[in-house]
Amino acid sequence: MSKAKVAVIGSSSMDLVVTSKERPNAGETVLGESFKTVPGGKGANQAVAAARLGANVYMIGCVGDDDYGRAILKNFADNAVNTDYVEPVTGVASGTAHITLAEGDNSIVVVKGANDYITPAYIDKAMKRIKECDLVMIQQEIPEDTVEYVAELCKKVHVPLLLNPAPAREISRKLIENATYITPNEHEATVLFHDQPIKDALMAFPEKVMITEGAAGVRYFDGVKEVLVPSFKVEAVDTTGAGDTFNAAFGTAIAEGKGIVESITFGNRAASLSVTGFGAQGGMPTREEVERVLSE
Ligand code: RIB
Repeated sequence: MSKAKVAVIGSSSMDLVVTSKERPNAGETVLGESFKTVPGGKGANQAVAAARLGANVYMIGCVGDDDYGRAILKNFADNAVNTDYVEPVTGVASGTAHITLAEGDNSIVVVKGANDYITPAYIDKAMKRIKECDLVMIQQEIPEDTVEYVAELCKKVHVPLLLNPAPAREISRKLIENATYITPNEHEATVLFHDQPIKDALMAFPEKVMITEGAAGVRYFDGVKEVLVPSFKVEAVDTTGAGDTFNAAFGTAIAEGKGIVESITFGNRAASLSVTGFGAQGGMPTREEVERVLSE
């Protein structure tokens, strides 16, 4: 089977991760346990995950002209992600995500930095590559008008678009219509569809809106009924990047021509493995690892 061609348009950041027993309240200081710097950013995470899962991945994004930017580029090379369309922006810092891991969950503040320079004009430079792809994946850590622009472009050139609407923000009806697949978590779904019950939103967009419900699984409407594709139980070390791994695996399977249920199951299995390692990319599995556990 030839590899699926996937373009990821999105953020590349350095994750600055603090682990702590407790999360500080506003105005409070607590003592943490460790500090680590690891590659992250929703776009980069999805690109790395898709490459490990066997896709030919073209990253389209920006980094700063700093040490973090150079480390991010090296990490792409180590994971066989093509960076012909990842440019360092002069005099600008790389994106950073400030992550606290405490009480079994993460909280994250993202500073976009160079990711804010991924403009519609920048996307035009990668037009030829985008047109050749089986699927484009995009998230929301880049400028809003770029996401709208890419969705229109993908519709025009008939390349399916997987929109992971994270972090949450209200989006236009046009963007929802232009995207082929949309994968909000439960919170993001309430922001996206604030004017209607989630059940109605699912029914309005059959086989388009896939709500990721964490440990429960992924819910969508198949045109006749609501379907919940269950997730796999594991002992979680760090849930950061699980959503990105789901998106990458789901997108890779779809780009290979697999059906919705099979693609979601592949995504769920990959995401469950990803939480067994530290850092957004630390536990992201290879294709062989996912296939082995799926066949057990
Ligand atoms: O989805 C996880 C990612 O969100 C982290 O890697 C961090 O960079 C934040 O953007």
